[in-house]
Amino acid sequence: MRAAGQKYFGRIIQREFTKQAKKFSQSQAMREKGGLGILPLLAEVKPTDRVLDIACGPGFVAMEFAKHTREVVGVDLTTEMLKKARALARREGLNNVTFRRADVNHLPFSNASFDVVVTRASFHHFPHPDRVLAEMVRVLKNKGKILISDNTSKNDPAKNRLHNLIERLRDPSHVETLPLRKWRALFKNAGLRVVKEKRLIQPRNAEDWMELTQTPPTVRQKIHRLFTQSMRGDKTGQNVRVVNGEVVFDMNYRIFILDPGEM
Ligand SMILES: C[S@@+](CC[C@H](N)C(=O)[O-])C[C@H]1O[C@@H](n2cnc3c(N)ncnc32)[C@H](O)[C@@H]1O
Repeated sequence: MRAAGQKYFGRIIQREFTKQAKKFSQSQAMREKGGLGILPLLAEVKPTDRVLDIACGPGFVAMEFAKHTREVVGVDLTTEMLKKARALARREGLNNVTFRRADVNHLPFSNASFDVVVTRASFHHFPHPDRVLAEMVRVLKNKGKILISDNTSKNDPAKNRLHNLIERLRDPSHVETLPLRKWRALFKNAGLRVVKEKRLIQPRNAEDWMELTQTPPTVRQKIHRLFTQSMRGDKTGQNVRVVNGEVVFDMNYRIFILDPGEM
């Protein structure tokens, strides 16, 4: 994507996440402690660490790391998300976390300025995940660690296609939930080694999931149709099913801890 395309996509991101900021900042699914509390533990952070959270949204991940480290900086493109993040950090009494507006494709920090660089639920919004990963590596100190937590899709191309089609209908700022095969290639090309990997499965109610993104009613109907058709043969790879009359599916998360190895 050229500079003009990147600017245009940046506007889609800001439009969608300005709309989502309120519900997102109140979302129990995104605050869910099981998935959040383990992140600093898996990264084995030290009290002296300086941490960067990219595409931080309302700051849930940044705040979790701030409880265990010296300083955390969160960056995001969407002003409304940053406002929520500052308000939440104030409410939690955390004074070692700050938030600033930045595009993850051009991080406004010097080389080697953070001990740990983290991000959650963001890579599927990046048209150029390789460039963002290179930026994460650039600002990471020697012997530093990167943590990425995001959804994965199946390696099967047909399942991947339908899964991502539904995601893009729900939220036009979605680019691609990557299959494991692409994650591994991404890390390898960036010269990163996977030192830890954890799989989490979170069952999600389809209607609540679409409420979070304020998906219009006509699109919700279409997604419900696609989900229903997908059940036979698990055509999205998300184990879509009906529980108590409601459509439910599994969100497959991976948490990767990466380091630059012997570079
Ligand atoms: C699904 S939210 C995740 C928020 C947060 N990481 C969390 O897990 O709670 C994705 C966030 O990525 C941000 N984002 C997407 N593309 C970005 C970019 N190019 N630069 C900075 N932020 C970006 C959006 O503004 C949004 O706040």
